[in-house]
Amino acid sequence: MEKVRVGLVGCGNIGRVHLNAYKNAKNIEVVALCDIDPANLKKTSEMYGIDKVYSSEEEMLKNEQLDAIDVCVWNCNHAKCTIDALNAGLHVLCEKPMATNAKEAQEMADAAKKNNKLLMIAFVMRFMDEGRIAKDFIDNGYIGDIYYSKATYLRRHGAPGGWFNNKKMSAGGPVIDLGVHVIDFTRYLMGRPQVKSVFASVEDKLGNRAHLKTDVGWKPDNASDKDVYNVEDFGIAMIKYENGQTTLLETSYSLNGEDVISKEIYGTKGGMNINGTDLKLYTEINGFLADVSPKLDNYKQSCEHFQAEIEHFADCILTGCECIAPAEDGIEIMKILDAIYESGRTGHEVIIND
Ligand SMILES: NC(=O)c1ccc[n+]([C@@H]2O[C@H](COP(=O)([O-])OP(=O)(O)OC[C@H]3O[C@@H](n4cnc5c(N)ncnc54)[C@H](O)[C@@H]3O)[C@@H](O)[C@H]2O)c1
Repeated sequence: MEKVRVGLVGCGNIGRVHLNAYKNAKNIEVVALCDIDPANLKKTSEMYGIDKVYSSEEEMLKNEQLDAIDVCVWNCNHAKCTIDALNAGLHVLCEKPMATNAKEAQEMADAAKKNNKLLMIAFVMRFMDEGRIAKDFIDNGYIGDIYYSKATYLRRHGAPGGWFNNKKMSAGGPVIDLGVHVIDFTRYLMGRPQVKSVFASVEDKLGNRAHLKTDVGWKPDNASDKDVYNVEDFGIAMIKYENGQTTLLETSYSLNGEDVISKEIYGTKGGMNINGTDLKLYTEINGFLADVSPKLDNYKQSCEHFQAEIEHFADCILTGCECIAPAEDGIEIMKILDAIYESGRTGHEVIIND
């Protein structure tokens, strides 16, 4: 097998981002597309010159010789699309969040195990340049023992609109949509510890503010006053891990403050702030406190992060190398997300592992 042959399910926004990444990928190609929305399917087929198109995954699995499926559908359909493909003997790359809850996530992982196929979760922050450099600093001892992290993903006016705001389809708002990225990334840098407990607050104070006339920061492209909006717009959580490490999460779709995407890591020898694409190392040099900002201007990884993600997926299939974003991590993140919502609802700390 020279290139992994993929069927891409879900030809919307992120499906097309993935398709851009496949264009230059060395070891993987998309040979068929599937979407239940005929307009999205047609548009995407024409944009990318892929003429094998299907309006159901079942049809695609029946008619195409595929090695893998790339699942880019609404959150509520991740589990079914993934499990059907695994049971058909295919490997799966599934977008974040892995599922709508930990139970579904576990069923997906069980299907992968039963069929002896790879299930990778598309935790793309792990493949960004800053992410890879931060991991490299940690692995080489510059941070020491990490005991605390802050995971922040705040939008001032950033409810995406459409299905994202409909709880039945998305399973939640910024906690499951944005928080998932930074919880996963900080946990990854902390060495993938098992979660112990979660204490959270989940609020719906501002809604999607579709009435606003001004745009700031991240801009929703299809929000409208007529949208269903029944998800939270703000969430904070203290996440405690079994080894004593702690993460503080802050996330929002609507908030009277700045747009921020920042991941802070605190260890015994140093700390790091990864803010957008800036990476700063807080350390001591020869008895002085020092801030170090690596010069990344001319630093280029072999490719951009979505391409790195899909090429890693293909590498795992072709060479059997260890997957850095396996289903087990997706399940652990879903347990944390479930607990955040439960704690927000009950007002109590949720103990996951005693
Ligand atoms: N990694 C990231 O940074 C990132 C960014 C955006 C979205 N996402 C994730 O990607 C997924 C899709 O988000 P989006 O913004 O592309 O949404 P979207 O609405 O733009 O696209 C989703 C597409 O999936 C199709 N679809 C839904 N169920 C289907 C099914 N059973 N079979 C075939 N097609 C189906 C819809 O018709 C739609 O065209 C979500 O899980 C989202 O959380 C990830």
